[in-house]
Amino acid sequence: MERRKIGSGDAVQFYDSEAPRYDADYQQTVHHAEDRVMAGILRRMLRRRDVFVVMDVGCGTGKLIELTRINPCRYWGFDPASRMIAAHNRRYPRHRADCMQWRSLTGVDQFEFAVSLFGSLSHQADIWFALEMIRRKLLPGGRVLLMFYGHRSAGRPSFICGGQPVDTWTYDAETLRLELGVYFEDVRVRGLTLLSERMINLLPRWLAAAYLWLETQTLGRWFPDRAYALIVTGRRGE
Ligand SMILES: C[S@@+](CC[C@H](N)C(=O)[O-])C[C@H]1O[C@@H](n2cnc3c(N)ncnc32)[C@H](O)[C@@H]1O
Repeated sequence: MERRKIGSGDAVQFYDSEAPRYDADYQQTVHHAEDRVMAGILRRMLRRRDVFVVMDVGCGTGKLIELTRINPCRYWGFDPASRMIAAHNRRYPRHRADCMQWRSLTGVDQFEFAVSLFGSLSHQADIWFALEMIRRKLLPGGRVLLMFYGHRSAGRPSFICGGQPVDTWTYDAETLRLELGVYFEDVRVRGLTLLSERMINLLPRWLAAAYLWLETQTLGRWFPDRAYALIVTGRRGE
């Protein structure tokens, strides 16, 4: 039970250099299938009547908007990499996204949902500070959906930081349950993508997406630590 550091180097600098290629780098069948699974989970959470204004943590080029088509007035994203934000602004000029460091994220806000997709928080050294900041930004009862890299991602062929010297921390489900349990209630962890991505890439796209959805609902819940990524959901107490 631990978090592990699997690289060292400036993640922001890395993503700034990666920004022009970032979206093109994630076009394999497995990435498409993961997007479909996350789109399904997000749409169900966003349909809830109590979810209105969403904070996108480490928003990158705007994956959350791509997956949910969320209305601009319900959205705010931030990311420390200025070129990722520039790409975000080009793709979705009506959705507000700011280049910002955690330490500038002061004050209390009225967000009802905080989302962090595909591992942005795995680049954050002081994860406890980040979780506390997210908690403060949420209304009582507000929800979180935060994705982290699992330990298995270290050997993932298409892992963007594979072979790259970038600060990255990987997690196991129990550590996340305990850490997030300090800040949020009703914390649940499930794994995304247990089957090898090479195998998934052999399937037709529609089948890969259907398989991955089923896997997330079953094996992903029972054996989260065999997955590349971990999806954590929870709620701020009253
Ligand atoms: C793998 S990308 C994911 C981006 C986006 N959420 C998505 O799903 O496409 C990781 C993002 O985390 C951002 N990032 C780097 N360090 C971070 C930190 N300490 N806190 C939050 N985000 C960070 C990077 O700039 C990059 O945009």
